[in-house]
Amino acid sequence: MPATCVIGLQWGDEAKGKLVDILTEQHDIVVRYQGGANAGHTVVSGGQTWKLSLIPSGILRPDVTCVVTGGVVLNPCSVLSEIDSLVSRGVRVERNLLLSDRAHIVFPWHVAEDHLLDSSVSGGEAIGTTGRGIGPCYRDKVGRALAIRLGDLYRSDFLERLRHVIQNKQQSLSTTSTAVSQFDADAIHREYADYAERLRPHVTDTTAYLLDAVESGKRLLFEGAQGSLLDIDHGTFPFVTSSNSSGVGVSSGSGVPGRWMNRVIGVLKAYSTRVGGGPMPTEQDNAKGEYLRQRGNEYGTVTRRPRRCGWFDAVAARYTSRLSGVDELSVMLLDVLSGLDQVLICSAYELEGRRLDHFPSHIDDLRAVVPVYESWPGWNEDLSGVQHYQDLPQAAQNYLARIETLLGRPVSVVSVGPDRNQTIQRDNAAASPSLSFNALPTPQHHATHV
Ligand code: IMP
Repeated sequence: MPATCVIGLQWGDEAKGKLVDILTEQHDIVVRYQGGANAGHTVVSGGQTWKLSLIPSGILRPDVTCVVTGGVVLNPCSVLSEIDSLVSRGVRVERNLLLSDRAHIVFPWHVAEDHLLDSSVSGGEAIGTTGRGIGPCYRDKVGRALAIRLGDLYRSDFLERLRHVIQNKQQSLSTTSTAVSQFDADAIHREYADYAERLRPHVTDTTAYLLDAVESGKRLLFEGAQGSLLDIDHGTFPFVTSSNSSGVGVSSGSGVPGRWMNRVIGVLKAYSTRVGGGPMPTEQDNAKGEYLRQRGNEYGTVTRRPRRCGWFDAVAARYTSRLSGVDELSVMLLDVLSGLDQVLICSAYELEGRRLDHFPSHIDDLRAVVPVYESWPGWNEDLSGVQHYQDLPQAAQNYLARIETLLGRPVSVVSVGPDRNQTIQRDNAAASPSLSFNALPTPQHHATHV
């Protein structure tokens, strides 16, 4: 039975939640396998807006089971407030939400560490984390000695373990800042024991559950958080998140082997955005960028920070579509581009006057690249009501066709607005280009450095 993966191919916020919501009806189980409450997804359904962070949007469908695996770092307080908000709006979660007992717990010291330590990682620039304690929690997971997992909250030695961790944290934090609050082990124990009790009906060994499910023919949908360029190993390090947010993280985060994944959908905005620090070659810190920000409402779901906006970067997207093993593309927010005379696509980089065929592995090189742009005629039509691919303006179809060619993958879905029904599904991705995994093709239109 098929398992589908939905993976962001840029720096996150590609509107994956909307696609996951649409695909959910063809699946039995939706799996969130990495990241934490740093991610946020918004789904508009039946005129209602749902903002979720850790819990997959599949929760809105009673016949679908939502699984948060051990690859996720879990803040029990955030999960409970998401549960409360769903329940208060009539969504039932008691039978179809499973949380892994292997998930590492985000504690208040992780949040404190996130704020204290996120400064100046490279060239004086900070990562600009979401401040949710995600990196410090993953660091403790890898360090092991100070880690606590969800399953540990139910053990008789939880208080003892908490005391050990807090003593260590107090020491390390007090050398960094005098303003660190004192963590009271007994109070934290009471608070987290209470969270654990409330979460108890949902907690299980999700690895065993998912292996049983996939082996017995259940249809799984894996929902990536963040985007492939923020991947800890393969992204724009050190301006990345702390988990494998590209396709390579699906198996490690969920425990389900890659041999079960037979459809990987790469999700892209029709332009680029990034929130937080780090290089972004096609950034437009100008009126064009502001145009995209206003039309696309490009403000962070979690932090409300204005997102950095720029042209579509085909070099980066080609890299991540290969990295994440993408079969087909879903291009989101195409409607945002209406009203521009020209739309630009970065089809190559130049570094020190030489053309680069690969996305650079070092950020100093990525900072130094000069994007080579192709300029394509824009369109003025409002796309928000378009239902069929062939009804898109020819200029928009040409733009999408060029993305297909540059990435070597067909566009199977185009989104032209936030609602479920503002989605064009292209059954026959017949227009698909021949798949080429070689060097980037030469731009056919004039190249400009912007
Ligand atoms: P952290 O994941 O909070 O440690 O943040 C690390 C980097 O990833 C920062 O640049 C964040 O802005 C970015 N980031 C984390 N989560 C998301 C997301 O869901 N969307 C977009 N950027 C994110």
